[in-house]
Amino acid sequence: MKFISNSVEETIAFGEKIGQLLKGGEVIGLVGELGSGKTHLIKGVAMGAGGADCEQVNSPTFVIVNEYHGRLSLYHIDCYRLGSVGEFDMLGFDDFCDPGSVVLIEWVDIVEHGLGGVEMIKIELSHAGDNRREIVISEAPEHLKSLL
Ligand SMILES: Nc1ncnc2c1ncn2[C@@H]1O[C@H](COP(=O)(O)OP(=O)(O)O)[C@@H](O)[C@H]1O
Ligand SMILES: [Mg+2]
Repeated sequence: MKFISNSVEETIAFGEKIGQLLKGGEVIGLVGELGSGKTHLIKGVAMGAGGADCEQVNSPTFVIVNEYHGRLSLYHIDCYRLGSVGEFDMLGFDDFCDPGSVVLIEWVDIVEHGLGGVEMIKIELSHAGDNRREIVISEAPEHLKSLL
């Protein structure tokens, strides 16, 4: 499923729609080069999942995991600076996976082989012009695909 966003606002609005559809227990993996819009999409998801005010959402570059608590608890992990899958495991990924939580992973491609085939909503973002971004949902459970 491919979507085109023409502005930051459209990307956030798209994320918000995804956030509204989440029930808890989902893992969302994001792939895409720097500046492709992963963090902005997550801002929207956090808003849609109830709670997090947009300003609170930033790439968790130094703390590695950010948390936002609203209708659902969101754990936002950025793997960009992780040295290994081992470090990712140490973050407590398994502890974040519970029915009331959603785990969002930027740069999921770095740690994917260590995830052991966890069911994931996978979103791939890429530059398609100054303010244009291509957003592809390449993996998702069937019920979510039909809703989207
Ligand atoms: N349509 C768009 N969607 C998302 N971000 C956009 C868009 N157009 C321009 N941008 C800019 O691209 C950058 C995306 O940053 P960010 O979301 O942090 O990306 P990433 O987390 O993938 O590195 C921001 O500077 C934002 O203003
Ligand atoms: Mg980011």
